[in-house]
Amino acid sequence: MLIQELIKKKRDKIDLSTEEITSLIDGYVAGSVPDYQMSAFAMAVFFNGMTEVEKTALVQSMINSGERVEFEKSVRFVVDKHSTGGIGDKTSLILAPIVAACGGRVPMIAGRGLGHTGGTLDKLESIPGTKIFLSLDEFKKKTNELGLCYLGQTGQICPADKKLYALRDVTATVESLPLICASIMSKKIAEGISFLTLDVKYGAGAFMKTTQQAEELALALMEVGESNGVRVNTAITSMEQPLGRFIGNALEIKECVEIMKGASNQPEFYNETAELSIELAAMMISLGKGCDLTQARAQATDALKSGRAYEVFEKVISAQGGDLSGIKIAKNTKDVLAPSDGHVAAINGEQLGYAAINLGAGRLKTTDPIDHSSGIECLVKIGSKVSKGEPIFRIYCDEANKIHLAESRILDAVRFSESKPPEHILIHKHLGI
Ligand code: URA
Repeated sequence: MLIQELIKKKRDKIDLSTEEITSLIDGYVAGSVPDYQMSAFAMAVFFNGMTEVEKTALVQSMINSGERVEFEKSVRFVVDKHSTGGIGDKTSLILAPIVAACGGRVPMIAGRGLGHTGGTLDKLESIPGTKIFLSLDEFKKKTNELGLCYLGQTGQICPADKKLYALRDVTATVESLPLICASIMSKKIAEGISFLTLDVKYGAGAFMKTTQQAEELALALMEVGESNGVRVNTAITSMEQPLGRFIGNALEIKECVEIMKGASNQPEFYNETAELSIELAAMMISLGKGCDLTQARAQATDALKSGRAYEVFEKVISAQGGDLSGIKIAKNTKDVLAPSDGHVAAINGEQLGYAAINLGAGRLKTTDPIDHSSGIECLVKIGSKVSKGEPIFRIYCDEANKIHLAESRILDAVRFSESKPPEHILIHKHLGI
């Protein structure tokens, strides 16, 4: 069958067979299916979804497009975490060292920014020298030796996802349950883990806008994991406002390092990042060690507060060639001022994500370079009381011509109310605990 016939079938809501999905994905990886046909297919899936058979075929063909890592049995459990994506979502940089310090092995495949959301890979690349694209042998060796290694997706592991992820990023086809499900689970299954903790986000800054959509995605992800021998638990967490204090690559590394170093007098708003990192790390530890969540929380908190997690992080970054002292943050800053008195009632993370892209912290096209030094500092959160003219966000960007557009987006992202809004709840629900 011609590829245009497959696209037409999906467009017209006619089910595709496993063979048809497999030949589409194989052709895409081999280069015989061009990006424009794959974009049309992804858009048809965006509108019409996929059946269970189609989704399973998509996951399997994406796994089979590359190699699978296998870890030898050991007392150190093999576990990873994946977030469905958010703004200021930097927990991977803290929780992975915590889990490694608590006896886990974390082979973490990190992605680039997707749509309006940031990516761990881009954050890691803001540390000068960090080598993210390793061979699978090296990845496995480092994970075994250090308990943690970060890997950017290479052609060796799920190349189908690597290509499709970049394509979806720039064709408005990210927010599709079957495409997200296949993208996440194919690479997680291929990296050889036994356990997986998912952070499924909902809210204005997430791909899933409601808790119901997030739960639906979580259940689909968990089912794919369990049917492929990976035990999964999930936290449904809020992206109704950006996580923590900073948005932007080097700025987020700074936030993580300061949290892990445990500086006293940590700036306000670091607590959220620390709280979610500990919770997700605890969920990973509880899966891997088979202990209850309360015990696991105590272990995770101790690993963070004692500085053991930071020791692991420093070792891993240096083993991957990175120099934490070389991080550069833009020198030029501009404060965004409150346009009126009131309480901050809502902060639209998607708009802030696009503002960060306008500053160069993310990409408009797959080939765009990133300005790792730029970003946004949140000086307020939902519930903050502000007076007209008070700084509410701080823009960091050395290219002054980019600031104006970002500033107006940031102002559009914030809604004020006269009365205090309900308290923002970060962790909405656990599944599979
Ligand atoms: N994270 C991924 O790896 N893929 C998606 O599609 C969305 C979030």
